[in-house]
Amino acid sequence: MTTKFIAKTEKQTFAYAQKLAAKLKGGEVLCLTGDLGAGKTVFTKGIASGLGITKIITSPTFVLMKVYGIKNENIKHLIHIDAYRLSHGDDLEAIGALDYFGKPNCLTIIEWPERVSEILPKEKIDVKIKILKDNNREISVKR
Ligand SMILES: Nc1ncnc2c1ncn2[C@@H]1O[C@H](COP(=O)(O)OP(=O)(O)OP(=O)(O)O)[C@@H](O)[C@H]1O
Ligand SMILES: [Mg+2]
Repeated sequence: MTTKFIAKTEKQTFAYAQKLAAKLKGGEVLCLTGDLGAGKTVFTKGIASGLGITKIITSPTFVLMKVYGIKNENIKHLIHIDAYRLSHGDDLEAIGALDYFGKPNCLTIIEWPERVSEILPKEKIDVKIKILKDNNREISVKR
């Protein structure tokens, strides 16, 4: 099933992700695709906020992965991965990132998943953010 939403502002992208977060149960792997500056990190911040994370989320472009603890009933950890600088999944495997995939108390978000396509789990949620004119974004969520 694919749902589409047009976000006219950064705030709307954030709010849309925030709402989606409430529907997540834990164990999901969210794959965020979209050009540079499309809003993948904004979307991640919205998810984090929706899960009750108050800590500032910054893009893990250089560290590849960041793990945030959550005081949430079901989801205890948010794993934010940025694969932009990678050309295959070996480095993610080496740092143990794959161990989080599908763990019931973890939510994993991957920016630039197409860079590490061979290590992505079969069960994933694809979020595509397309840049339209006038700062609009088309966000499609396929689960
Ligand atoms: N409708 C919108 N939704 C999201 N971001 C928007 C929107 N309109 C403008 N922006 C701007 O686009 C930028 C999105 O940046 P962000 O870091 O989230 O992109 P990204 O997809 O993570 O890029 P990268 O591939 O470099 O990691 C921000 O500067 C934000 O203010
Ligand atoms: Mg980003």
